[in-house]
Amino acid sequence: MEKDLKMGALTPKGAPAEEVLAELEERSAEDVDWRTGRILTGLYDPGEKAHDLAVRAYTHYLAQNALYINMYPSVGKLEREIVASIAEILRGDAEVVGSITSGGTESIIMAVKTSRDWARANRPEVTDPELVLPITAHPAFHKAAHYLGLRTVVTPVDPQGFRADVDAFREALGPNAILAVGSAPNFSHGTIDPIDEMAPIARERGVLFHVDGCVGGIYLSLLRRMGESVREFDFSVDGVTSISADLHKYGYAPKNASVVCYRNRDLRKHAYFVCSATTEYAVINPTAQSTRTGGPVAAAWALMRHLGEEGFANIVRDTEKATKRMLAAIADIDGIEVLGDPEMAMFTLGSDEINVFELDDEMRERGWSLLPQFACGGGPANLHVSVCWQNVAHTDAFITDLGEVVTDLRRRGSAIDRDELAAAVAEVADKPLDDILMRIAPLAGLTGPDLPERMAPLNTMLDMLPADRRDELLGTYLNMTT
Ligand SMILES: Cc1ncc(COP(=O)(O)O)c(C=O)c1O
Repeated sequence: MEKDLKMGALTPKGAPAEEVLAELEERSAEDVDWRTGRILTGLYDPGEKAHDLAVRAYTHYLAQNALYINMYPSVGKLEREIVASIAEILRGDAEVVGSITSGGTESIIMAVKTSRDWARANRPEVTDPELVLPITAHPAFHKAAHYLGLRTVVTPVDPQGFRADVDAFREALGPNAILAVGSAPNFSHGTIDPIDEMAPIARERGVLFHVDGCVGGIYLSLLRRMGESVREFDFSVDGVTSISADLHKYGYAPKNASVVCYRNRDLRKHAYFVCSATTEYAVINPTAQSTRTGGPVAAAWALMRHLGEEGFANIVRDTEKATKRMLAAIADIDGIEVLGDPEMAMFTLGSDEINVFELDDEMRERGWSLLPQFACGGGPANLHVSVCWQNVAHTDAFITDLGEVVTDLRRRGSAIDRDELAAAVAEVADKPLDDILMRIAPLAGLTGPDLPERMAPLNTMLDMLPADRRDELLGTYLNMTT
């Protein structure tokens, strides 16, 4: 497929600002409207007033280059204050330090890089370092291992709760293990690994332990401070050496902002990259980015100052209530179930009666955005829901629509011929990628870079492919079409 050569932003003559803005308005009208309260994944909106404050704080610091700490020391101060607050709610002592990154993935990449370089200095006998992680750990760890030359050792979870199997974890921690991971919670099912059992085992073996609190670091800490019982996951757990906690998720800050905290400076020193041996200026970075805007930092700081712990606690309280109402209502809807026993405001819907990918399409028709996830690790295909503040006022509408759509899908049966799709997939599963694409694309309604309106046929087929083939296929397809 050829790239559309007409596509390009740089026009020969330019256009008046008003016209350009109008064009952006028009183009974004094609997208999902994030203001509807019906986005249940990847959007964390603290409401109009707080959002406006964040936008103003962001734009106030938009031009400031946070790389230049000499020119813009106030950005560094804002960062230190944010990190101090996050370290405190994660029950870190005065030794805990951290850095601001662009998001969960960068925080995780930095935690893995720090561990790798720590191991090079402290466990030089390890020449083929391993990262041990449950199947529920976020793909960012696989990306980090891929970039940084670590081998991944994936361990199973219990099929009821989707929490790491501690015995399997213990067994997997071989002599080459340098870093292990637990999630609080995992994104896929919203459950927290038994970190208080895993991290001490890692420590005994001289292995560092990272807690992925990208989703839950802030939320779960606030929930615990509100008196709720929360499974142990933070720096109070013996053996936990680093934690990532995203500001741009349940910290409700605009993208891109996350915090990665380290147990102490001895560990964080391995995060740093310093280079003054070129004709250029000296680069001194504890994170992957160099030049970056001060905007996300200022916006995250402004929200913390504005809402305070009380404001965040109110958001958490409302979100918890809404989630519990949803879970109770779903238990009464025949044909779908919540997988596992989620521990914060997120859950996944599975079904052994209807095709969840069709459920996704039908819910999208009614304006809801959920996130399909493929079958993996003993669990079936499912739809992920992250409940955030913007969804609270729409709880009843969600419950009603979900009930109606599931009932309707059960009544009319699937429009997808699974046997036909399975036969097509079986025919090409071990063939070259081009053959797979030629066979699958027409059945899936794929004609170019734009995804089909109804995704269920494509997702159903992708779900049937082994994960490694699926990965190859998706990468190849996007490379061909974008
Ligand atoms: C548990 C978890 N860790 C890490 C990440 C990666 O975060 P980001 O998308 O900000 O890079 C996510 C994203 O959803 C996540 O849910």
